[in-house]
Amino acid sequence: MSLSRPDREASAHTRWRTGPGATLAGEVRVPGDKSISHRALLLGAIADEPVTIRGLLEGEDCRATRRALETLGASFETGADGALRTGGAGPGVLSPANSPLDLGNSGTGMRLLCGLLAGLGLEAELTGDTSLVRRPMERVADPLRAMGAAIETTRDGRPPLRIAGGRALHPIDYAMPVASAQVKSAVLIAGLFAAGQTRVRQPGLCRDHTERMLRTLGVPVEYDRHAASVLGPARLRGGTIDVPGDFSSAAFFIVAALLAAPAGLVLRQVGVNSTRTGLIDILRKMGAQIELENRRWFGAEPVADIRVQRSELTGIDVPADLVAPAIDEFPVLFVAAAAARGQTRVTGAEELRVKETDRIATMAAALRAVGVDAEPTPDGMTVTGGRVRGGSVDSGGDHRVAMAMAVAGLMAEDGIEIGDTRNVATSFPGFVRLANAAGFRLEGDDS
Ligand code: S3P
Repeated sequence: MSLSRPDREASAHTRWRTGPGATLAGEVRVPGDKSISHRALLLGAIADEPVTIRGLLEGEDCRATRRALETLGASFETGADGALRTGGAGPGVLSPANSPLDLGNSGTGMRLLCGLLAGLGLEAELTGDTSLVRRPMERVADPLRAMGAAIETTRDGRPPLRIAGGRALHPIDYAMPVASAQVKSAVLIAGLFAAGQTRVRQPGLCRDHTERMLRTLGVPVEYDRHAASVLGPARLRGGTIDVPGDFSSAAFFIVAALLAAPAGLVLRQVGVNSTRTGLIDILRKMGAQIELENRRWFGAEPVADIRVQRSELTGIDVPADLVAPAIDEFPVLFVAAAAARGQTRVTGAEELRVKETDRIATMAAALRAVGVDAEPTPDGMTVTGGRVRGGSVDSGGDHRVAMAMAVAGLMAEDGIEIGDTRNVATSFPGFVRLANAAGFRLEGDDS
């Protein structure tokens, strides 16, 4: 159930406490992929025929995107089978918003919606919670302006974003300075409405879910590791989008099982798109026993069952090319590093500083608070493995920090108390219940 804003604020101080002696076993099925769910809502909303979305993540971030689209005129309906169906009335169903659209905690929602609104030439103001209004938005406003959009940010480039209406866009060939799937997606979505080829070049790996989904909906997209392009104007057909389990949610159980699953733990039907699975490669280099079984296609995305066995880990220098495909997993990777023998060094991960919190600072503070030797650097962290004593930590309202510290609790001698856990609902509703079903000993409100 979705909480209204006052209720969410009232629960701002939700806390968890981890208990000692947990052993994990069995099978887990994590909720749907957040990145893919956002894209399914946004692209489904403008398709000319109904789009059926199966396995959509019902997290707060996706709800915020859905609410914003509904405010703009989109319609969605849940069928008896639980799948969500979009109206199928084409992009013309959307009209300018006469009040600010609140994207809550969701950077993906805000950046992708900005691309869509700029492409359609619809006036709107986009805002968000105290975390989102601190995040950089020029990275998306800049290329959209180069296409002809008029977008204002605050003086230091943050939300609210004010998009002017009535601008027709032209295509661009854009070389992104930072490899960002959100920026790439925003430009490609805007490019659907510009006459000609819009091309985005990426300086490093970033996720390709938008490209795959556009193809599913009948738009010819060319893409490889270096660039993606669409030819506009393009219309989207209907179809079915299957949302796999979120690898980034599975990541908490993968590391948890490495620490505490002597007989193994299996994660069913998890998305294993190679732009996302850098954590597995890193953990294997550290000595982790992780097997991908039953690999198959799930719509346009590859999925697998992931079998994880308790393993002795050894610290490593994380290779530079594995940082991008593991970017959302660093909070829990730092926890794995705390369990490893020796030092783990992460460099080249400065993007962590502009996530839901500054994840280098938040995780270094949280790990130190429970007795781990964690040295933050400008672009990463060095963690020396050893004992985790326990204590009280603050997640800073960051969902992935809260869940990572719940995993750290599996090896904490005195347990860990984790503050401000409410935002776990943004990506992983039901985490506490699922974690306890797998064997965690986690007390506190579920999201
Ligand atoms: C996302 C892309 C990544 C990721 C974020 C979700 C997406 O961010 O960290 O959690 O859905 O496209 P960047 O686009 O900043 O790389």
